[in-house]
Amino acid sequence: MNQHKIAPSLLAADFGNLQRDIEMINQSDADWLHLDVMDGVFVPNLSIGFPILNVARTFSKKPLDVHLMIVQPEKFIPRLEKYQINTLSVHYETCTHLHSVVQQIKNAGMKASVTLNPHSPVCLLEDILQDLDMALLMSVNPGFGGQQFITQSVQKVAKLKEMILRKNAATLIEVDGGITCETGKLLLDAGADVLVAGSFVFKSNNPLETIHKLKCINELDADSKINKNYTR
Ligand code: DX5
Ligand code: ZN
Repeated sequence: MNQHKIAPSLLAADFGNLQRDIEMINQSDADWLHLDVMDGVFVPNLSIGFPILNVARTFSKKPLDVHLMIVQPEKFIPRLEKYQINTLSVHYETCTHLHSVVQQIKNAGMKASVTLNPHSPVCLLEDILQDLDMALLMSVNPGFGGQQFITQSVQKVAKLKEMILRKNAATLIEVDGGITCETGKLLLDAGADVLVAGSFVFKSNNPLETIHKLKCINELDADSKINKNYTR
């Protein structure tokens, strides 16, 4: 059963060879292309902006999964419309009027997702869950790739899955940060639907094969030490 989705994060790609790396993802078993937008205010880092979104739109054949780590995301939603983004994630922690932002995303023709930082409990989504196409749980503090997976995230996924089932909602659960085949397997067993992976894919010796392994996680022995060529 490979029903889960894999979304490689472009943040870990070679920015001198973006077209090449996006085309590699096109050829891979990946389902989506994950794009991280940072503002240096909500998170202590800067990353991609409109020019890189444009490159991704031009070369990617995979649906775009855009993760906004910016304050006042509502200001930029109209300008994002033209990139034909599949799913747009905004952080719960940045939206005073979250319900309104979610409607704004949907009205702009995108699927709406809300992201929670590691310290934000899943119960915060209780009264918005049914409006969400996806919820994104951060399994590292947002802002940087290559960080250590926060193990508590597995229990958060299980709690959120229980809430989704209880409400009979169709919300997908995406998890982002520190994902390898080992942490990914734990997350899928807990109820995750989409795994984002940056360093694990792009720093591996064979990114295509690594994406394939992430896609086939459920067929792998959980105890086998896969991808020995990458240690976190
Ligand atoms: C971090 C970003 C992630 C990042 C994940 O703030 O949201 O998408 O690229 O990188 P890894 O997989 O290396 O933890
Ligand atoms: Zn991300």
